Amino acid sequence: MAKANSNCLVFVLNGERREVDLSQINPSTSLLSYLRCHTDYKGAKLGCGEGGCGACVVFLSKYNADSQKIYGFSISSCLTLLGSIAGCSIITSEGLGNCRDDYHAIHKRIAGFHASQCGYCTPGWCMSLYGALHQAEAKGAHELRQGFSNLSVLEAEKSIAGNLCRCTGYRPIADVCKSFAAEVDLEDLGLNSFWKKKEIPDLNKLPKYDRAAVQTNPKFCSQKCEESGTPTLNFAYKDEFDGEQRVWIRPSNLEETLGTLKETAKENVELKLVVGNTSAGIYKNVRPKVFVDISNIPELQIIKRHEFGIEIGAAVTISNLIEVLEDANDVLDPGKLVYPRNLIFEIIGNHLKKVASGFIRNTASIGGNLIMAKKLSFDSDLATILLGASATVKIISIEKIESVLTMEEFLDKPCLDSGALLLSVRIPYWNKVNNRVEDSDINGSFECYENLFKTYRAAPRPLGNAVSYVNAAFLAQISLNKPQGHLIAKSLRLAFGAFGVKHAIRAKSIEEFLIDKVISSSILLEAIEMLKAHIIPVEGTSKSAYRQSVAVGFLFDFFCPFVNNMVPPCIIDPREVSNSQSGITPNTMNWSCKPKSLTSGKQTMEFHLEYHPVGQPSSKVAAELQASGEVVYVDDIPSPKNCLYGAYVYSEKALALIKKVDVKHVLESPSVVSYISSSDIPKQGRNIGAEALFGGETLLAEDTVECIGQPIGLMVANTWHDAKRAADKVTVDYDCETLGPPILSVEDAREKESFFPVPEWFAPKPIGDFAEGMSEADHNIESAEVKIGSQYFFYLENQTALAVPDEDECMVVYSSCQNPCILQTSIAKCLGIPINNVRVITRRVGGGFGGKAFRSVPVAVTCALAAYKLKRPVRMYLDRTTDMITTGGRHPIKANYTVGFKSDGKITALHVDLFIDAGFSPDISPALPYNIISAMKKYNWGALSFDYKVCKTNLPSKSAMRGPGDAQGSFIAENIIEHVASILGLDSIVVREKNLHTFESAVFFYGSYVESPIGYTLPSIWEKLKQSASMNERMKNIRDFNAANRWFKRGLSMVPCFFLAMLTPRPARVTIFGDGSIAVEVGGVELGQGIWTKVKQMTTYALGQLWPGLSEDIMSKVRIVQTDSISLAHGGITSGSTTSEGSCEAVRHACNILVERLHPIETYLKKSSPNGFCWKDLIFQAQMQSVDLSAQIYWVPNSNSSKYLNFGAAASEVEVDLLSGATTILQTDIIYDCGRSLNPAVDLGQIEGAFVQGVGFFMTEEYVVDKNGKLVSDGTWTYKIPTIDTIPRKFNVELLNSPVHEKRILSSKASGEPPLLLAASVHCAIREAIKAARKELPTDNNTHFRMDSPATMDVIKSLCGLNNVECYLKSLSASTNQ
Ligand SMILES: Cc1cc2nc3c(=O)[nH]c(=O)nc-3n(C[C@H](O)[C@H](O)[C@H](O)COP(=O)(O)OP(=O)(O)OC[C@H]3O[C@@H](n4cnc5c(N)ncnc54)[C@H](O)[C@@H]3O)c2cc1C
Ligand code: FES
Ligand code: FES
Repeated sequence: MAKANSNCLVFVLNGERREVDLSQINPSTSLLSYLRCHTDYKGAKLGCGEGGCGACVVFLSKYNADSQKIYGFSISSCLTLLGSIAGCSIITSEGLGNCRDDYHAIHKRIAGFHASQCGYCTPGWCMSLYGALHQAEAKGAHELRQGFSNLSVLEAEKSIAGNLCRCTGYRPIADVCKSFAAEVDLEDLGLNSFWKKKEIPDLNKLPKYDRAAVQTNPKFCSQKCEESGTPTLNFAYKDEFDGEQRVWIRPSNLEETLGTLKETAKENVELKLVVGNTSAGIYKNVRPKVFVDISNIPELQIIKRHEFGIEIGAAVTISNLIEVLEDANDVLDPGKLVYPRNLIFEIIGNHLKKVASGFIRNTASIGGNLIMAKKLSFDSDLATILLGASATVKIISIEKIESVLTMEEFLDKPCLDSGALLLSVRIPYWNKVNNRVEDSDINGSFECYENLFKTYRAAPRPLGNAVSYVNAAFLAQISLNKPQGHLIAKSLRLAFGAFGVKHAIRAKSIEEFLIDKVISSSILLEAIEMLKAHIIPVEGTSKSAYRQSVAVGFLFDFFCPFVNNMVPPCIIDPREVSNSQSGITPNTMNWSCKPKSLTSGKQTMEFHLEYHPVGQPSSKVAAELQASGEVVYVDDIPSPKNCLYGAYVYSEKALALIKKVDVKHVLESPSVVSYISSSDIPKQGRNIGAEALFGGETLLAEDTVECIGQPIGLMVANTWHDAKRAADKVTVDYDCETLGPPILSVEDAREKESFFPVPEWFAPKPIGDFAEGMSEADHNIESAEVKIGSQYFFYLENQTALAVPDEDECMVVYSSCQNPCILQTSIAKCLGIPINNVRVITRRVGGGFGGKAFRSVPVAVTCALAAYKLKRPVRMYLDRTTDMITTGGRHPIKANYTVGFKSDGKITALHVDLFIDAGFSPDISPALPYNIISAMKKYNWGALSFDYKVCKTNLPSKSAMRGPGDAQGSFIAENIIEHVASILGLDSIVVREKNLHTFESAVFFYGSYVESPIGYTLPSIWEKLKQSASMNERMKNIRDFNAANRWFKRGLSMVPCFFLAMLTPRPARVTIFGDGSIAVEVGGVELGQGIWTKVKQMTTYALGQLWPGLSEDIMSKVRIVQTDSISLAHGGITSGSTTSEGSCEAVRHACNILVERLHPIETYLKKSSPNGFCWKDLIFQAQMQSVDLSAQIYWVPNSNSSKYLNFGAAASEVEVDLLSGATTILQTDIIYDCGRSLNPAVDLGQIEGAFVQGVGFFMTEEYVVDKNGKLVSDGTWTYKIPTIDTIPRKFNVELLNSPVHEKRILSSKASGEPPLLLAASVHCAIREAIKAARKELPTDNNTHFRMDSPATMDVIKSLCGLNNVECYLKSLSASTNQ
């Protein structure tokens, strides 16, 4: 094995030289781990560890000795290894700017555009945007508008396409990005705190963007590299966990690399070549003995232009390749026929921009990608494209023998088995006529041909960060057969990949079949049938039929121009069709709504001064601090001395007896400290995880496991990674026979009568007489069914806690939770100690969405148990997969309904049977029927009856995800409306309007919660929305569009929402200090929902009542502090959308007490200070007079008015691509009644964020569980929350300035959950588009079709017809033959 020669790694971090002693920190540590565990910089966060979320993004720059230039770009620090950054400079968000040295313009604009909520994702966004700005600067010497960057608006938005945010809904983040683009129209930017609404936007008010402000690579760093060349690094180290000797080698040239490979091959040692290491995002836990860093080998970095093509070294990154292809295009001779310039390069470059995300492409090498495709059957885009483009690869054996292979040979043959190295890839030019390519099978000598090249990918996200379901690249040399005017393929390459195949393949039989033929619809149909026999996914591939059908669509698209009279799959402008005599003309074919930006929006709202500053759109408290990464989340708290780390050992079986847990071999590792099981629970304690309202759940399984993911024990080790490795190594012996098969569906539960009881006091009540209602009906639908899937919380900060033992059997626990009280009680019960021994502190939570209401509790209790046993601090941070597997999510539901209705659409009676999958423990599940029915009551059903079963299954417990039950109930109601409309052949909006509540019927269904006729704003919202969203006009446009477009259909729909909110008691304490500063404590936890901002405004308003103008003075003196279950007890649970308003009201009462106490002093000062006095003087005097300057209250809402209804409506328009099932949300308009919003900017953020989370629920987030009860969609690779490219292109939100609601807190209403329900408008709009598509299918007779939730691409495509292309071709052939 290679010898070590250095133990010091030198690089620059935020401008400072760092020397890392590699005997202490090994070079295969991820950069993220290094930053988080060994430095004070915590801005980079662990969101996924898979390259899929962007929370860990930092900026890297390095000096290139050849070009003598510094290159800088964003990277994912979770995948980059420490050894790879030798000689580089790293900048984290804190390094861009911070609270001491002033923030960067990006940070300030994030705050000003209200673009950060929980803030956990925010530093990552900042760094992705910074990377793009930097690269744009590096590229161009354009004269720019002062203060702007080179980026176009679209580029600026796309720069963040790989970053996930679960809170904001992306629109404001897009505004931040756009604000840097020179071409931006400032008028297009959304609500911000830089200029007032209706004011003319002024560039000078934007925080200055100084293009040279941040020094990316300090001089000493580049000088050093210049002197010493690329630093080499050979270092051997001992892995603490397994005691193995490992080596990190960074050779400086090919010769050395091959030498190393030869040596390791001889010793048969496991080796990994490292370039970007991004493969670790999917192939985790690869721990070779030797790491060979080949990222700087000059021979692997070559970019050479040859006569027949361009050769690119294997270590060139995908980003560099894109640049090279763009540049190469510019210098090559322009082609003469269809396409100017080199058509292949441009198309490949554009396709590659959709591979992964910017920060991955910046380090991901083409060689790494191809090796993954070859050796690991990775669903590569690159391999397919290169196969289609007839590229070749060059490899070199350890004996230094070079060989050139075609892509087929490379992918098929075992050519790299004996340690050979991929050297380069050569892509031929295809711009010229009669192109000849070495090693290609397209060597014919033709007359005069054009090259046609197209690539395709169908993936859940349009801009990337999602591997394809299927991809393809087709290349044809075509000749125009003049007499008949036909295009004929003289040669063809049809490459398909990622469809569930070992590697990309060519469809050779189809190529042969089509070559030299005049292609008619029937020939194409024949080719498609052949293709279907060719594209056969391996067994077990998900969505096989869908993938096959999309492949057919690709082929159809490609060959459309070959067939006369074929309607091509491109968007046709209906206006031009109607103007043209012959229908479709070539120039109409290119009409499409190519957007100038990904998203835009209008925000309409009014601000009120009555309770100033309450009602103002103030920026979020600490938003800049969040952006710079300086705020402290639980996992950012520095580890106390002796701190240990825990990782769950969880059940791999859905129902079994535990025979044995074998940890002995794991405990032998020097890094592993202990294993904690239920037997470690103190005698006086109880085995209790979360104790929710309806019953508890065990903390750690004893003899039986009841779901996959149920915690069995905790491995405790010296580091986070070692704890995880240890947990993975534990073996559990199960008996899966004795208890019989697990219950894995509501159908199973029904059969076995496995239900949780619903207490009488939580049971919803039926309304009216169902039988009578049915007797009034003209029609009915009997026992129809609809299903709704689950949804995972996907907070960016995973479940985490830190438990620190304190004196006298006390425990301090820092937890990211929404429910410190329950946690405090649960820890006390588990340890058998009094509640006052347990202090739970929660400063802020990196997103909760209900997932940290109860599901966070077991994690923190387990930490406390381990800390109690070991008498040392113990912390946990679940990795994303463990979090997904153990935490559960939203309740999946099956509903069967019977509904009676009149011919005009008026529904007279509805009965619904609900089957709710609760998982293995009750959590909040027995409350679900109440919530579901409450949301369903949004329509006047005449009579409503129901039955429900809360099914106990052997799946992880479901919990209170945002709008629990309401989201599903609202959807079921819409589904029934749609069904009735279909049966009657009526527009669904007409049926909705027939059944919308009048005030009287709303009272009949909801009782006093409707409050007053004036407060029942839904009818006016509905009418207003119809006008503002121009529903009638757009409906007509859509009809025209659908008539003109065969392969794209649009749909528009509109839905209302009712949401019953409930206020609960809340404590608050306000304390004024001697210098006039104010600390406020509330029971509610800051989750990103803006509670601190509203509380701060309320404190200012309430104390500001002392005299006019005081609030301006004290606003900056208010600090909201963390929740602490001892300091301010009985804080309650932060949920249900009303915590902010309840906490505000509690604060107002506490402030009123202080105002009352201060009033006499103020009167005294008024008299005694002729020159006036200020706040500080008042407080000084109050102290002198021994006034108690701290006030605490426990506010209890009036029981008559603690529940109230929220109203809103949304209209969404979508466009569905009938070949792939992809959906674009073209526009969403929302009107939402927040009452007199406490902070319109915060409420706007809640509305947009909730809506987009709802889009995920109804459209993209597929929660897949396999037949054994194991979650399949367990990470960012398989579970797709919306990204910036999935949100509405136009997103207009209006906050209704509704009349004063005197029973509400300063007339405000909730905003956190209800808007999520409105995302059902997207689902309904998709249905409309599908209806239009189905009209063109031969078999459809315009009846109802069932469309469950979520409506993912494959669901949509199958409803539009998996065989829609074949149907079309058949009809075309039939009409041609006639
Ligand atoms: C979040 C995410 C999303 C992605 N999405 C897509 C996508 O949509 N489409 C797509 O095509 N790809 C996608 N990728 C894959 C990505 O392109 C690859 O991970 C990347 O190109 C691998 O390059 P690397 O330099 O990081 O390889 P490394 O991880 O450094 O190495 C990968 C493997 O290749 C071997 N290797 C590297 N170089 C050589 C060489 N020259 N000779 C022999 N062996 C070598 C290594 O030993 C290792 O086994 C995605 C990746 C991530 C992380
Ligand atoms: S943590 Fe690195 S991309 Fe998610
Ligand atoms: S603000 Fe983006 S995840 Fe919370």
